[in-house]
Amino acid sequence: MQIDILTLFPQMFQSPFSVGIFKRAVDRNLIQVNIHNIRDYTHDKHHTVDDCAYGGGAGMVLKPEPIFEAVELIKSDILRQGVSELPIILLTPQGRLFCQQIAQELSRYSHLILICGRYEGVDERVCEHLATDEISIGDYVLGGGELAAMVVVDAVVRLLPGVIGSEASALDDSYTTGLLEYPQYTRPDVYQGWVVPEVLLSGNHNQIAKWRREQAILRTLKRRPELLDKADLSLEERQLVERLKKGG
Ligand code: 6GU
Repeated sequence: MQIDILTLFPQMFQSPFSVGIFKRAVDRNLIQVNIHNIRDYTHDKHHTVDDCAYGGGAGMVLKPEPIFEAVELIKSDILRQGVSELPIILLTPQGRLFCQQIAQELSRYSHLILICGRYEGVDERVCEHLATDEISIGDYVLGGGELAAMVVVDAVVRLLPGVIGSEASALDDSYTTGLLEYPQYTRPDVYQGWVVPEVLLSGNHNQIAKWRREQAILRTLKRRPELLDKADLSLEERQLVERLKKGG
């Protein structure tokens, strides 16, 4: 997958892509990430990227021209390779709320273009006539779309075939199963007097799978009960949830 990111702060993207699974994915040519400085697509002496808002009000708005020019250039390069579907995603608090399902959806494309908004906003013509999608990562305001872009890229890249060690671990993820993950333990079996649940030491794989599933359901019920409505539960598991809800 090729990911092109437009930003006013290219430096922000250096460390995340130079460590861990990202670095491995880049080194193994599973992903190519290109960072573009929006300022490089300005033509005036001062490399102006923003201006005051029509109608007044505090704060600056990102100008449309450099963003259009950058995207059009990157886009024509990609389209020349015969690519037919090319999402152009604006990261903005006004976007649709990012979730695992959107990460899966995005992981199916060969190319993504991400535009990081900044300041008080981006000229609306970018949203209307250039971006094909707008994404927010949550109901809070960040200083810009950069961290949001990193979140989206992280969630998408780890779904690409070959990026993480075992394919099974992505399938088991919270939010893929619709449940939060069960508790995990490693050695030592007793730490400061706190013991690892006995079933995990039993070697009985059926019992272990059953315990983990129950723990995942219990934890989801306690912490994120609304997730259970959409989770893939058996009839017995649904009945268990109903009993637990009533019993408190
Ligand atoms: Cl994508 N951008 C900004 N500036 N703030 C956000 C966001 C994006 N998602 C949540 N908050």
